[in-house]
Amino acid sequence: MARLVKHSKTEPLEIAVGSEAVYICMCGLSATYPYCDGSHSMAEGEEAGKVHWYDKDGFRNDAEEDFSSIRGLD
Ligand code: FES
Repeated sequence: MARLVKHSKTEPLEIAVGSEAVYICMCGLSATYPYCDGSHSMAEGEEAGKVHWYDKDGFRNDAEEDFSSIRGLD
């Protein structure tokens, strides 16, 4: 089973856990999800209005359609 979820954020969400800062992945690319591992750097240079997907080696690909009906995480 698989599902498509659109993520449009390109940086993590910082939250405080006690006195420590924890960074939650908001881009969906982290290998340590739900925690940020810095993979959001792959999203730099994404084109506004386009949908991209990333293969397992981290290479960016352009989607053929905008998947406007898919629910996203903004
Ligand atoms: S926000 Fe996703 S890896 Fe950093």
